[in-house]
Formats: sequence, C-alpha cells, structure tokens
Amino acid sequence: MSNEIESVLIENRVFPPFENLVQGAAISGMDGYRALCEQADKNPDEFWASLARENLNWTKPFSTVLDESEAPFYRWFGDGELNVSANCLDKHLDTPTADKTALIFESDDGKVTKITYRQLHARVCEFANGIKALGHKTGERAIIYMPMSIEAVVAMQACARLGIIHSVVFGGFSSKSLHERTLDVGATLIITADEQVRGGKTIPLKSAVDEALGMGGCEAVNHVIVYKRTGGQVAWQEGRDLWMHDVAANQSGDCTPVAVNAEHPLFILYTSGSTGKPKGVQHASAGFLLWALMTVKWTFDAKDSDVFWCTADVGWVTGHTYITYGPLAAGLTQVVFEGVPTYPDAGRFWEMIQRHKVTVFYTAPTAIRSLTKAAESSPDHHPRKYDMSSLRIIGSVGEPINPEAWMWYFKNVGGERCPVLDTWWQTETGAHMITPLPGATPLKPGSCTLPLPGIAAAIVDEAGEEVGRGKGGFLVIKRPWPAMIRTIWGDPERFKKSYFPPELKGHYLAGDGAQRDQDDYFWIMGRIDDVLNVSGHRLGTMEVESALVSHELVAEAAVVGRPDATTGEAVVAFVVLKQALPEGEEAADIARLLRAWVAKEIGPIAKPKDIRFGENLPKTRSGKIMRRLLRVVAKGEAVTQDVSTLENPAILDQLSQAH
Ligand code: WT7
Repeated sequence: MSNEIESVLIENRVFPPFENLVQGAAISGMDGYRALCEQADKNPDEFWASLARENLNWTKPFSTVLDESEAPFYRWFGDGELNVSANCLDKHLDTPTADKTALIFESDDGKVTKITYRQLHARVCEFANGIKALGHKTGERAIIYMPMSIEAVVAMQACARLGIIHSVVFGGFSSKSLHERTLDVGATLIITADEQVRGGKTIPLKSAVDEALGMGGCEAVNHVIVYKRTGGQVAWQEGRDLWMHDVAANQSGDCTPVAVNAEHPLFILYTSGSTGKPKGVQHASAGFLLWALMTVKWTFDAKDSDVFWCTADVGWVTGHTYITYGPLAAGLTQVVFEGVPTYPDAGRFWEMIQRHKVTVFYTAPTAIRSLTKAAESSPDHHPRKYDMSSLRIIGSVGEPINPEAWMWYFKNVGGERCPVLDTWWQTETGAHMITPLPGATPLKPGSCTLPLPGIAAAIVDEAGEEVGRGKGGFLVIKRPWPAMIRTIWGDPERFKKSYFPPELKGHYLAGDGAQRDQDDYFWIMGRIDDVLNVSGHRLGTMEVESALVSHELVAEAAVVGRPDATTGEAVVAFVVLKQALPEGEEAADIARLLRAWVAKEIGPIAKPKDIRFGENLPKTRSGKIMRRLLRVVAKGEAVTQDVSTLENPAILDQLSQAH
C-alpha cells in the first residue's frame, strides 16, 4: 500500500439543513441521527435485525443476524428466505402504489413512455416465465448487455425473480471485455439489444455479443435474448438467438417469485482493481436489498410524492442500487433516461427536470463540471432558463466533488434551497456509506460528511491504528454491514487480500485515502492504489497497461492518472515501442492507433487522453517503474524529487518533452 495523501483545504462554509426538510424527515435533526447511531453501536445485531424485519418481506423469517464464523466471509440473515423482485414489485400490488407510475422512460430522441407498478410487475413476470420456459434455472448466471431502457430493468428484475444471478456489463464496454466477463461468470444466458442509441447515434450491441461469443470458450451460453430497440440489421443464429418480445409473448403475467436464501447471490458486477483483471463483486440478496431500500429512505428522504432521477447507467452499481432496486422497493416514481446530458444540447438534464417535475436528482461530478462549462458559455443551456422549482434534494456520486463544482450545483441547480448530498460509497459497499442526511446534517462543500447509522467508518494508519483528526490515512469500515461485498466471484483469496489485509485487524479496506476535520467530517482524497477515476468510472492502470502491451508495436507501457478539470482524472500512457522512437506525424499516427486499440480491448472510457513515447521508462536499479515520477511528468511539472535511485534519470527529460 502506498500512502500518497496530500492534505486538503478544510472548508469553512457550513450550510445548516433547511427547516422544511428537517420537518418530517426520515431522520430528523442531528439528535435523530445520533440516536440511531447510538442504537446501532450499542447493539448492531438488534439494529440490523429490526430494520430487516420491518422493511423486507420474508417468505421464511431469519433467526440469525450476523454470522462471523467464517470471517471475512460474513453472512447476514443467513437462514432467512425471500425474493428481491417480490420485495420491489409484488409488495405494492395490494396498495395504492400499484397504479402509480413506476418508470418514466425518456428515450434519446425525447419520446416518453410511462409504466405503472402493476404493468411493470406483469412485464417482469411475462419475461421471467419466458426465461423459465427456455429452461434457465435458479443459480445460473445471465449477462445483461443492454441500453438504458424499461427492458433493462425488466431483465434484471426477471432474473432476480427466478434467482438467476445477473451480471450487467456496461454497453460502452468492448466485445473483448464482454467475453472476459461471460467466461469468468460462467454465463448460460445473455440478454442484449440490437443496438443502443446515444446522442443521436446508434451503436451496435448484438454484434458485439456475437463477436464475444466467437472468441471461444462460451459454449455454456445457449440463449441470446435480444431486445429490439432500433430494428437495425443483426446476424441471427437460429436456436440460440431469440427476440425479447417473442420470449415474453403468450406468457402469464404472474410468475411465482422463487424464494431464495438471504445469502443467494443477487448479482455479480465487475469493477477494476489494482491488478489487470477486473473483479467480479458478488452481492447477496437480502443484505443488498435492505441497504438499497434504507438508503433511499434515509439519504434521499423518500416521499410517496417524489419523482426520483438517478442519471447513472444500470451498467454501474449506482444504476443497480438507485434505479433497479432501491427506488422500486421504496415504491417511488422514477425517471429512466436513455441518452446523454449534452444531446440535443447541454440543457437536456435541466429540461428533463422541468418536464418530469423531478424532486430528487442524483448525478456525477463529471456531469456537473461539464454542464457548468456549457452553461457558463451558452446562457441558453443554463439551468436558470428552466423551471427547476420541483427539486428538493440534489445528490452527487462517483468521485470527489470539488468545492467549486459543489457551490455551482448548489446555487444553479438547487437554487440554494436543496441540500447537495455528496454520497461516498463503492461497488463493494452496495449502497451509501458516508453521506449527509437532508433533514439533519450541516453541509460543507467538498465533504461527504458523516457515516450513516450502523456504518463504522474510520481512518487508520498502516498498522490499522486510528489516526487523529486532520491526519490522512486509509478509509476503513470496522464492522461488517449487510450490503457488503460477499466475495470476488471465483477468487476468494483475492477478496481477502484486497479488502481484509492482515495488518488492518479485520477492518474492511476501501482503497481510498481520507481525513477527518475538527467536526469529524470525512474528506475523501482519492485512491491509494493503482485505480483511476475517470468521469466517475473506475479504471485500473494495470488493465490499460495490459491492453497496451498486447499490441504488437508495444514493448512496455506505464499508465498513470493526471488531474483533469472535467473528467476528474485523465489517463496518461507512457509507451516504449519495439521500433525506434517515433516523431512528428508518425508518433501522432501510432498514438491514434493505440487509442483505438485500447477502446477495442476495454472500451472507449479507457482511451488514454495523452500518449507519450520514450526509449525507456524511469526505473529503479532493481527494475521497478517509478510511477510517482511519471505522475509528475504527466502533470507537466518539473521533477523536483531525488532521482538518484534511478537507473536512467535522463529518460525523464525525454518523456517530458515527448508531449
Ligand atoms: C470509488 C468507487 C459509488 C458508486 C459509483 C462508483 C470514488 C465514489 C465518492 C465520493 C469521493 C468517491 C472512491 C471510491 N468515490 N464516491 N462521494 N467522494 N470519492 O463506484 O466504481 O466502485 O468507485 O469511487 O474512490 O473508492 P465505484
């Protein structure tokens, strides 16, 4: 573990909670917050057990709460049984929520489709019955590779209904990434679409599935179900390929939800770690659902009248927790958006907030920063041109939100009436961990503030000892929580090594550096490992390096992050070619080629923004690449560190000039 934590500015602006939000909030006032924290600290088992009893419908009640006998492979509510889809849909059928709008889908070109809870339930049941009729069974794995759509939610819920474990692959990932995940998870079923539509352009999905399956080893996949989004041309393999509407046709609108054990995996979602291969983060049914629901209730202070909009894609954990599961379990009306924030213009988000009277808006700092730029340069796309008075809460997720972006969001989107909730969490944590509460927490721009009740967040040093206020350290969670990652699919050893290193005394290691201020507020300072955060997307530097060195021209590559005003971090690659050092046009051509190569290997999000060629990389005499120095060079700064341990100090000049 490297510890490169820079101290941050401590923010002095404090915004107390708005009185109208304190009244009637799920957690009201700091007294309310502290009381719950105390309850959780005093008797964690009782705290979690009563939440689970009161908020979930169990087909078989649990009698054990936390089972630590095989720590860190914790089990929660381990002898209980339930079905997640029944807890999102069926539970509303005999209530007024049944005929409430569940999803307001807006397509890329602005077409709006609404569906009630009753209708969504029927759609999920018909599709689940169709999947069942094809012979797929509880415990099998399905890859979902779909655009943002009602159908994607239906596909995920149908899997959950049958106890089929889904693994959603973001539509922006390449066929190669899709292939890797299909193999790793051992999928028998793939659910995809003919094409996706984003920003006025169509991007093929089915052909990427065909390509992935053609790469070999995927014989277990016996069905590919295709949602017809555009009607574009697709290749078809009879017997294997089926249209989603045909699979659902003539099926009953009732499908008995399969009761599964609380620990039955609900989904596996791949995310980047510090080595080359993405990790399949495995989540359990009951614990995940409980925390997804509780955080919708607490963090977003869910009200029956809310129109909730999380702008994430279901390909990321945010879309799992805050589109497919949490808001549905809470019975909310939510917006699902197919497109991108800048199409047809940079006012799209604000226009949609106005059109659908969104009350709770949840997006990423990278979107805020790029829309800020657009709004400040073209007044027509400024939020002030739109009626945003419906908003009551605005949230942020995925990466640190810098105080300037926070203030702009607060003033221009929230009209200085809505709290900005800077929510810290991860794919592995399942749901929010450290976040302000709208009816309780005084806000400081740039801080995710305080842990939720039941979440024992702390900052420790390399020996696992807590550090004092104002001191940087590793962010850890000291006690297990129900929505935590259960294991890395197929690699329990890596799970232990990554998250529970022996020196940290059994604490969960998040992989972020952080510090606490004088009020115990948390300030996240970025990753402590070789993981980058580009536009809120996690990317391993080693992943990009492996992609680069797999190209025949490349001898060696080192990838680092560079701070970027819009994307948070940008990928910078230092590359040594097998041929002589290229110059001018040739260098530009090879750089273009390699960028396209990385996009094909991983996906466009991994494309290096900057590629620098050198005859070598800065290495110690023992051959270790000094990434620390490369980070300095990538920023365009002069290297002031001692370079006497370097084998080849002159290479730093070459790499600096290669820009
Ligand atoms: C990493 C997790 C959270 C779901 C989407 C991303 C960074 C996330 C914040 C925040 C500062 C944040 C961390 C974390 N991160 N939220 N509010 N402030 N950093 O999930 O892809 O698993 O990434 O994103 O570095 O470890 P993920």
